[in-house]
Parts: sequence; structure tokens; C-alpha cells
Amino acid sequence: MAKLIDGKLISAQIRAELKEETKAFIAATGVTPKLTVILVGEDPASQVYVRNKGRACEEVGFAAEQITLPATTTQEELDALIDRLNADKTVHGILVQLPLPKGLSEERVLLRISPEKDVDAFHPYNVGRMVAGQITYLPCTPAGVMELIKRSGISVAGKDCVVIGRSNIVGKPMAHLLMQANGTVTVCHSRTKELAEHTRRADILVAAIGKADFVTADMVKPGAVVIDVGINRNAEGKLTGDVDFASVEPIASYITPVPGGVGPMTIAMLMKNTLTAAKRAVEGEI
Ligand code: GUN
Repeated sequence: MAKLIDGKLISAQIRAELKEETKAFIAATGVTPKLTVILVGEDPASQVYVRNKGRACEEVGFAAEQITLPATTTQEELDALIDRLNADKTVHGILVQLPLPKGLSEERVLLRISPEKDVDAFHPYNVGRMVAGQITYLPCTPAGVMELIKRSGISVAGKDCVVIGRSNIVGKPMAHLLMQANGTVTVCHSRTKELAEHTRRADILVAAIGKADFVTADMVKPGAVVIDVGINRNAEGKLTGDVDFASVEPIASYITPVPGGVGPMTIAMLMKNTLTAAKRAVEGEI
């Protein structure tokens, strides 16, 4: 029987800590941290994510602004909006919800956001800083995973860590953060041969593939820490992770559930980055 890593509880603790820190920051500086989220189009999942981000901002005491644009928005219009927000001193964090509708370039958008307001940590400048160990902002989902591991009292140093998935948002930065924590890291992906031979060696296994119930018990070393980053709908329409929880839970030492594991941590880390952005703006650090 694995211990459950309760992301809902841990993220609530982090938001409570941030609320106190924000109160003290506002009292000392008179500045209220502000996050502006841009949503282009009407993707229903994105609408839910954006709404949740706004709610989290209110909970910790930030100002939150949501700008919703039609799917017909041109690249030039989106660029102009980002330029305006980059220049607005009352805005500390800018987030453009992905994916963008067809015809808009994610790459161009991510490059346009000022690195100092890039609370997603997706700008190549911030990605480069992270890889070099000069952390500006940590990418929210991998940082959330690291926080779950740390707050569960699990040490990464010297452990065999296997990440399944190599996306820019999760897999790649996840591997770097585990390496920075002195783990020995293997990244597996769709072209990996004998995947289970790698995953069975993992003391810490992070699944970020995007396929429902992909990781089964035969792929997991008994006693492993299993972190599930996946959010999928299975055939019955139920929310499920990348890990087959029913078969893996009995043999793992720790496991994250879906929902209620990594998901709530992403937003908590976004809040942390936004407070950091406001502090840096006041200190004129970047
Ligand atoms: N879409 C799914 N996850 C994310 C995220 O972390 N940031 C942004 N901007 N878009 C997303």
C-alpha cells in the first residue's frame, strides 16, 4: 500500500503561506501583485483552467485580470496586447493560455512576453536560465512535482529518476529539476526501446505521457515513488492519469492521485512565481 501524496492539501498549504507573504508584501510596499491571463478562443478545458487561475489569485490576495479574445484574433493584435501589458507597470505576471487557436504562433507569443513577467517560465531566456541553474522562475508543473516530493520528505539525491515524456512544458524541465536535485535522470519517450526496462529501474518515476492508464504495475519497481502528471479522460469519460492507479498503488511507496495530485500544484506554483515577479519589480531586480 502506497502513501498517497495529497496535492490538494499541499497546494492549499502553499496558497495559505503565499497569502501571508502577500499580505506582508502589500503592507510593506503598497503594491498588489497582479496576474493578467489571456485566453484566445473558446476551448472549454482552457476556460476552466483560466477560471481556476483567477480564483487562486483572489484567494492569495492578488489582483487578477482575464482578457478573453475571439479565436479570429490576428497575431498582430495579440502581439500588440502583449506589448501593452509588458509596458504596464501594474501588471507583474502575463500568461497566455495554451494551446492557441490555429493560425497563431505559440513560439512568437512566448518570445514576446517580457522574461521578467513570464510567470509560466516558457520564454527561451528563462528556459536557458533554468538549464544553467540560474533560476528566475521555475516552470509551474515540474516545480509543483518537486515541491510534492520535498514536502513528502522524499530525497532525490542519488536516486534513479525516470521521466516518461519529453515535452517542453513538463518532461524536459522535469528532467533538469531532478538533475539539479542530484538525481540520476533518464528521459524516456515514444521512440524509447524496451521502455519497461528503464521504468523498472526507477526509484522515482514521473509519468507525463498523456495516455490514460499507460503505466502498469509490471513497469514499476516495488517501493518506487510514482508521480502522475497526466490528465486524461478514459473511455467512460472519467478523469484519469497516465498511471493505472489500481494496479500500481499496491506496489509503490508513494503515489499521486489524479485528480488531486500534481494538478493543483501547478496553480500554486504560478501564484508563487507571480509574487516573485511583483517582488522583483519592486526591487528592480531584473
Ligand atoms: N496550458 C496547459 N497548461 C498550461 C500552462 O501551464 N500554462 C499555459 N500558459 N498554458 C497551459
